[in-house]
Amino acid sequence: NRKIIFDTDIGVDDAFALAYAAKTQTILGITTVFGNVPVGQAVKNAKLFARQIGLDAPVFRGCSRPLGLAQISNSAKVHGSDGLGDVLSNPFDDQADNAVSFIIDTIKSQPGEVTLVAIGPLTNIAMAINLAPEIIPLVKEVVIMGGAFGTHGHAGNVSPQSEFNIWKDPHAADQVLSSALPVVVLPLDVTHEVLISGEEIRQLNVPILTQISQGYLKYSLEREGFEGMALHDTLTISWLNHPEFYTTVKSPVRVVTEGISLGQTLRRLTHLASRYDPFAECGEQTLCLQVNAQLVREAFLSCL
Ligand code: BDR
Ligand code: CA
Repeated sequence: NRKIIFDTDIGVDDAFALAYAAKTQTILGITTVFGNVPVGQAVKNAKLFARQIGLDAPVFRGCSRPLGLAQISNSAKVHGSDGLGDVLSNPFDDQADNAVSFIIDTIKSQPGEVTLVAIGPLTNIAMAINLAPEIIPLVKEVVIMGGAFGTHGHAGNVSPQSEFNIWKDPHAADQVLSSALPVVVLPLDVTHEVLISGEEIRQLNVPILTQISQGYLKYSLEREGFEGMALHDTLTISWLNHPEFYTTVKSPVRVVTEGISLGQTLRRLTHLASRYDPFAECGEQTLCLQVNAQLVREAFLSCL
């Protein structure tokens, strides 16, 4: 059980991750960011979903746009236009206190104790370390769903090389991943390996999860050609509960911030000397490249 700040652009798999986190971690706050939905909608979704699962955690409003140029994309096909499958009526407003200030203040007041779980674009985290770099050595761990290293042929999901969360704000991702923060990355290499079926979701007996996942399941089957739902963001919480399910490597990571590979995550593959080293002065991060998918699924299903 860790003290976590849960940073999310809350869509369907984010909601699954939040349900898992609520059962297994101490959630100090939910900080929202644009991504699957605009940030105001993320605030509303976080308030609604927390209420629905009986989670009493404050919700904060974070960044509404990336550090660089915005990438035009449409997540509505996957997550619904409201991010939660367009099946709920939402009475909440989009007002909330500042997420970046909350991240900075919480880390300073509890040095060495706070884990950041980041499952949307990394803009809030980048802003926090830009405004208050003194928090970097005070963070316990940053656990990120993002990126793609092509280990099992899973390269990108928004472009041939790039994963959505990183591609949405490549500059923020490059700042966070190349920083001295202690980062653990759960890329598509592992998150796309762990699927659950509609029937398994139904058997969880959490009606809101069944409701919000219908469109996502349909999209996966009709547009991506596989049955079931990739748990993506949920694997950050799985990592906190069961790091033994994962095989990791240590490497510095950079992100491509322009050109046809925009949003691609790069790790060091060779120690051959090169004249230009893009990884010079980068922290070594922990990358999860293999997973025992069956164990992750079983632990998640039995916990919920
Ligand atoms: C990521 O993209 C989002 O749509 C999901 O919520 C997840 O965080 C997967 O690439
Ligand atoms: Ca997400």
